[in-house]
Amino acid sequence: MHVLDISWFTDSMREGRPVAVETRHLIQDTLPTLPEGSTPTPVATVSQYACQRRTTTENNNKILTDAFEVLAESYEFSEIEGPCLAFRRAASVLKSLPCEVRCLEDTQDLPCLGEHTKAVIEEILQYGRSFEVEKMLSDERYQTLKLFTSVFGVGPKTAERWYRRGLRSFSDILSEPSIQLNQMQQTGFLHYEDISRAVSKAEARALGNIIDEAVHTITSDAILALTGGFRRGKEFGHDVDFIVTTPELGREKSLLPDIIDELKEQGILLYCDYQASTFDIAKLPGYRFEAMDHFAKCFLILRLEGSKVEGGLNSAEEDNRSWRAVRVDLVSPPMDRYAFALLGWTGSRQFERDLRRYARLERRMLLDNHTLYDKTKKEFLAATTERDIFAHLGLEYIEPWQRNA
Ligand code: UTP
Ligand code: MN
Repeated sequence: MHVLDISWFTDSMREGRPVAVETRHLIQDTLPTLPEGSTPTPVATVSQYACQRRTTTENNNKILTDAFEVLAESYEFSEIEGPCLAFRRAASVLKSLPCEVRCLEDTQDLPCLGEHTKAVIEEILQYGRSFEVEKMLSDERYQTLKLFTSVFGVGPKTAERWYRRGLRSFSDILSEPSIQLNQMQQTGFLHYEDISRAVSKAEARALGNIIDEAVHTITSDAILALTGGFRRGKEFGHDVDFIVTTPELGREKSLLPDIIDELKEQGILLYCDYQASTFDIAKLPGYRFEAMDHFAKCFLILRLEGSKVEGGLNSAEEDNRSWRAVRVDLVSPPMDRYAFALLGWTGSRQFERDLRRYARLERRMLLDNHTLYDKTKKEFLAATTERDIFAHLGLEYIEPWQRNA
């Protein structure tokens, strides 16, 4: 039995029938009086799945989640997956809370918090900081790997190799004659200052206008959508992500090469790594479900003029350059895969992971950026919107700005 808010009644009046009960209809803080000594069961508990939580960009527990993220990253550098995932899940749960955790009892009914995470919370609540985290932040290996992986094109494996060879700084790397940087890394070092600085919402908007213009000189019926963190309402991001496609199936294949040519012609293409599509619908049953998708995509660095940005560039005060370099990702799925691609590229990473985990464990379905497969019915489920996918999964719809898990 649920105790419902009047919003359920007004929703039902609007629809002309009793609507399905959703979490927002449940009364959370007016539990019936219980006999003395018994513990109340909360009406709405926090789900262990990020795709069943609403997480805005407002984080009421930043001190705790920042600490967890340092520890998660340090385990990632050491390739220890279990604890890494545990800290990421714990951070994600705390990000969804409507208020600050003030004492350990506040975390009592929360999922995904183990002994280690609770010990860190307790330390921070008591001393204002965690000694384990501070030790990690001053650890030479952690600092070096963090520095090296901050370069575009340098992953944890390369960073580790350089660290093992005794290299500790950028100048160590750049002055080491036996190190051959690939083109991505060379560009990464060349534009390091610019692309390690956050991209603002205004800059993302300006880039949207530039891409939109480029796309429409090529075809009039193109569809362009902002995705990634900016679609989730973030104020800043490390890059800007767009999906671009066209209703004409097959036409999307030449779309990215055409856009790239157009940007080149405008003289604003500083770097381009284009990956043609390896997506083959005929191979779909028996398909391996994985995180990396097979759509055509390109990882770009563009030259963004300050004059195109409302309020100007997000640059250092003393810096009076007229432009900056920005990372932009474009992905181009066929139109009939659009909803899956949009859902997959909107993120957050943790939200995506839990959507897939939920589909697999709770629904016996397989979800990825291309499709949704029902293992029980042995069939693919069609979707033209994100709402269709949530409905197939039996999940309440979560808006993009509530996916900041
Ligand atoms: P980003 O790495 O751009 O993250 O990937 P973000 O959430 O926008 O945050 P910023 O940029 O650091 O501010 C966006 C989403 O696209 C998916 C990722 O899993 C993530 O959820 N993605 C990215 C893919 O699905 N495939 C790819 O090849 C790349
Ligand atoms: Mn992004």
